[in-house]
Formats: sequence, structure tokens, C-alpha cells
Amino acid sequence: MRIRKAVIPAAGLGTRFLPATKAQPKEMLSLVDKPVIQYVVEEAVSAGIDHIIIVVGQDKKTIEDHFNISHELEKTLKTRGKKELLHQIQKISNLAKISYVQQKEALGLGHAILVAKDLIGEEPFAVLLGDDLIDSSVPCTLQMVEVFKKFKSSILATQVVEGPDISRYGVIEPKSFDSLDKTEHVFEVSDLVEKPSFTNAPSNLAIIGRYILTEEIFDTLTTAKPDANGEIQLTQGLRLLLEKQAIHAYCFKGKRFDAGDKLGFLKATVELALKRNDLGEDFLNYLKKLPLFSNKSTQIRG
Ligand code: G1P
Repeated sequence: MRIRKAVIPAAGLGTRFLPATKAQPKEMLSLVDKPVIQYVVEEAVSAGIDHIIIVVGQDKKTIEDHFNISHELEKTLKTRGKKELLHQIQKISNLAKISYVQQKEALGLGHAILVAKDLIGEEPFAVLLGDDLIDSSVPCTLQMVEVFKKFKSSILATQVVEGPDISRYGVIEPKSFDSLDKTEHVFEVSDLVEKPSFTNAPSNLAIIGRYILTEEIFDTLTTAKPDANGEIQLTQGLRLLLEKQAIHAYCFKGKRFDAGDKLGFLKATVELALKRNDLGEDFLNYLKKLPLFSNKSTQIRG
């Protein structure tokens, strides 16, 4: 079955990124020259997804405006003969069918997915978290869709995280560490734990913000008990799903940045800028001249 729909939760308060997120969703922060959510929507589209459901909080207007047609801007660019820019702007509003659904209270990731239930209906779908920006030659969601075609189960994107940082993630316990696939690292999940302590982590395989989920997740999220903070965790819904059907973990190929974190965001900005044809070379030359890398001081000459 084809994966046609994706959910992008964008209702978080963005407290890790204050004050930048005081009056705008963190998904609208710009990496080089594009808001994070546009990278994520483009990734979904390049995996063949044509209907995207963005779960918004209070301040949805900026996200909606970004993906809508901007008549005034288009008119101005046309009059000024800025064809390339006009093309870029028009492409954004034609990316995909985008629906918005409001999560009225911040009740967790599982709850955010649950509010998209009616728009998803009864079919498997993708979930992409805006905090996780993935740079890869084959878009991560497309890699996941290919794995889904083979295993026809929910698929969790994972990557190896060494050391105490593991306790910042959901962590999977595989049934066996032998991959089920000859060319890819795919494991059947036997259990998963949300943010375990380093010593209690069942493996070093951390769940990253890309999922393919079967529609049965909606039933298990409905029955999942809220955690100590009153939030419904996706991991809890997945644990209940495991009682009914198999779930697979897939080690995707690519580099992931935590764009919801200031340092991660800076790293993503630098690496993405260095890869840009229009900026990369100049930016690299600038970096090389920073006192960190060079001792040359500016001299006044006649
Ligand atoms: C969420 C999930 C967690 C996952 C992480 C990936 O946590 O609950 O299982 O590992 O995303 O980014 P959050 O970062 O929203 O706290």
C-alpha cells in the first residue's frame, strides 16, 4: 500500500529555543534561507507523499501563510522581473495539499498524532518531526517507505547514539542484533523505552523523528495512559501496538541534526550553508579567516 499522507507535528512551545520562539513556532526558524518546516515538507513530498497534515498550536498563521499563495509578493516579483525568485515562491505553495489541524493543549507527541486521526483515516502514514533535520542523498522518508514496502509494518527510524546522550531519546530493544535485511540494518523491535537513563538503555539505537505508522496506532494512542506530566507519549502508543503487531526499526542512511536545539541548529546551518552552490565557497573562505583557524591580522596598507 502506498504511503500518501504525512503528519508533521508543529504545536510545541519551543521552550528550548526561547526567545526566538516567543511569537513564532520553532518550525518557522530559518536554516540558511528556508524555514525548517519547508525542508521537512519537501522531504515528505520527495517520498511521494501528496497530502500533509500539519498539527499546529496557537500560532499557526505564519506556517499557513508560508505555504499559501502570496499574491502581493508574486505581483511585485513579476513587475520587477525577478523570475527565479518568483518561481521559488510559487513552488512553495504548489508543494502538496496541506491541511491544518489544531492541537488545543500541549498534551504530548502521541496526542498530536491522535488529533490528525480523522484526516488520515484508515491507512498507514508517515510522521516527520521538525526538530530532526536529516541530510541524506536519498530522503530519509523515501528510505523508510522502501523498508515499509518490504515489511508492511510500522517502521521507526533509528540511529546509533553513544554515551549518556541516549537518555534524550526513545530507545529500542531489538529481538536480535542480526539485521533482517541483507543490504540495510533492519531489526524487529521487542520493546521500546522513552528516554531511559544511560545505564538502563536497552541498546544504543535511538528513535529519530521519522516514522511510518499503521492506522492501528490511533487505537493504542486512545488507550495509552498519560505520563507523569500528563502527556500521551508516542512511545507508549507504540508499546501497546507491539502487543498486536510487529514493529521494525531501520537505521537510515544520512546525517541527522537536532534543529530544535540551539547547538544542533547552528551545526545544521553551517553544514547546509557549506553545501550551497551560491554560498558554500564564500562561506568557507570566511570561516578559514576566523581567528580560530588563522593568525593573520588585518594590516593597514598605503
Ligand atoms: C520525541 C520522541 C522520542 C524520540 C525523539 C526524536 O521526543 O518522544 O522517542 O527519540 O522525539 O527526536 P522529544 O524530542 O519530542 O522529546
